[in-house]
Amino acid sequence: MCNTIKQLFKQNTILINKKIVVKGWVKHKRTNKLKTFVIINDGSTIKNLQIILEKEDKSINIGVYLKIKGLIVLSKGNKQTIELLANNIKIYGIFKYKDLQKTILQPKKHSYKKLREQSYLRFRTNFFSSIMRIRHNVSYLIHKYFHKNGFYYIHTPIITNYDTEGSSNLFKVTTLKSDFFGENAYLTVSGQMHAEAAALGLRKIYTFGPTFRAEKSKTPRHLAEFWMVEPEIAFFNLKNNMFLAEEFIKYIIKNIMILSKDDIELLDKKNIIVNNLNKILTQEFQRIPYSKVIRILIQNGYDIKWGQDLNYEHEKFIVESYFKHPIIIFNYPIDIKPFYMRKNKDKQTVAAMDIIFPNVGEIIGGSQREERYDRLLSQMKYFKLNRTILEWYINTRRFSTVPHSGFGLGFDRLIQFITNMKNIKEVIPFPRSINKIYT
Ligand code: 4AD
Ligand code: MG
Repeated sequence: MCNTIKQLFKQNTILINKKIVVKGWVKHKRTNKLKTFVIINDGSTIKNLQIILEKEDKSINIGVYLKIKGLIVLSKGNKQTIELLANNIKIYGIFKYKDLQKTILQPKKHSYKKLREQSYLRFRTNFFSSIMRIRHNVSYLIHKYFHKNGFYYIHTPIITNYDTEGSSNLFKVTTLKSDFFGENAYLTVSGQMHAEAAALGLRKIYTFGPTFRAEKSKTPRHLAEFWMVEPEIAFFNLKNNMFLAEEFIKYIIKNIMILSKDDIELLDKKNIIVNNLNKILTQEFQRIPYSKVIRILIQNGYDIKWGQDLNYEHEKFIVESYFKHPIIIFNYPIDIKPFYMRKNKDKQTVAAMDIIFPNVGEIIGGSQREERYDRLLSQMKYFKLNRTILEWYINTRRFSTVPHSGFGLGFDRLIQFITNMKNIKEVIPFPRSINKIYT
C-alpha cells in the first residue's frame, strides 16, 4: 500500500511491523556512526516522517524526491510516534547540492519577498504549504456553510461587458487582431449582477470565483487577480444581509481553528493568530451608520466631511483604536457607492454595508439592491449610465420584483487575516499585482 504521510499518522501505531511504501521529499538529513536519519514530508500534512537508513547514501540530500519501501516501527525518539526502517529507496531526481543553495529550498530563514519570487518552489516550504492547506480548508468550509444553509453554487461568467462597481478598474479582453465579441469585453470585477439574476430564480445562491481589478494601488491588501465569495438572496433586506455576513464569517473562523489546528500552530509563533481569531468570535460586530463614523472621525481630529469616502487610515482608526473590534458600517452616501444599491428614505444614502476587520481593513462589501424598477432607472440616469448594455439587468426588475441583498467577501483578505500575513501576496499561489506577475 502507498500512503500519504497524513494517512500514516492517522493510523499511527496500528501500522507497527507493517510493510509500507511512502513517497516524499527530503527536508533534513543527519548521519551518525551507525545510521542515517532522513526526514521527509509530502505536503499532505505539516508532520514529517523519519526514515532510518542502515547505509549512508550521498545522493540523498535536502530537496530530493524519494520513494521508500520499509517497515514501520515504534520510534525511539520522542518527536514522533512511528518511523520507517527503509529497505529499498528509489531516488527520483538528483541535483547538485550547490545549486540548491541559490534557491529558497536551502534550509535557512528567507524573506517573504524572496519566497514569493520563487513562488513555484514555495509550495515545498512549511510556511507556504500550511497557508495553502488553510486556504483549501476555508474554501471547503465556505461551500459547506452554504450547502448546509440551502444555497446553490452558481458559476457566474468571468468575461463580461460591464463595470459593475463603476470604478473603471477594468482589464479589457481582446484577441489582439479583432474584437471577438463584437463589443467591448472585460474581465469581471464582481459576479454580482449575474448572481442577482440567479437569486431571483433560485432564491439563495452564491458564486465563488476569480475577479480582476486594475487598481493602481500597491498596498499589501490589493491583488489584480483575487477571489471573491458572493452570496445573493431573494426576499432579503440589509438587516438580514448583515446577520448572514456576521454568522458566515464567524462560522468559518470557528471551524478553521479546529480543522487547521496544526497549520495554524505552525504559523502562530506567539499565539497572535489564536488570539485574533478568538477575539472575532467573542463579540457581536457593532452596526454603525456611516454618518456616525464621520462624526467620530471629526471628533478625533480627522479632516473629513460627510460625503467623502473612508480611506484605510480612517477604517484602521475606527476598528483598531476606537471600537477595537470588527464593525459593520452601513448607509453610505449615494455618490460614493455603485448605482445598483437601494436608495434609503432620506434620499441621501443607500442601503450599503461594509465589514471592516483589524489588520486587513474592508473584508466584505455588500448592499440591499435597488429592486424598484423606476428607482433603478432614475439611479442609472443620475449616474449617466448606458441603458442598452444594462437592459438585461433592468429586465430582472421589469417582470415583477422582490427585495434582495448580497455581499462580496474578499477571500484572499480573509486568508490574510486568518494567517496574520502582512502581505496578501503571501496567501495566494501565484500573485498578480501591479507591475508584476509572479510565475
Ligand atoms: O466591496 P467590493 O468592491 O464589492 C463588490 O464587488 C460587490 N459587487 C460585492 C457584492 O455585493 N456581491 O469587493 C468585495 C470585497 C472587498 O470588501 C474586499 O475584501 C475584496 O472584495 N477586494 C479585494 N481583495 C483583494 N484585492 C483587491 N484588489 C480587492 N478589491 C476588493
Ligand atoms: Mg467595497
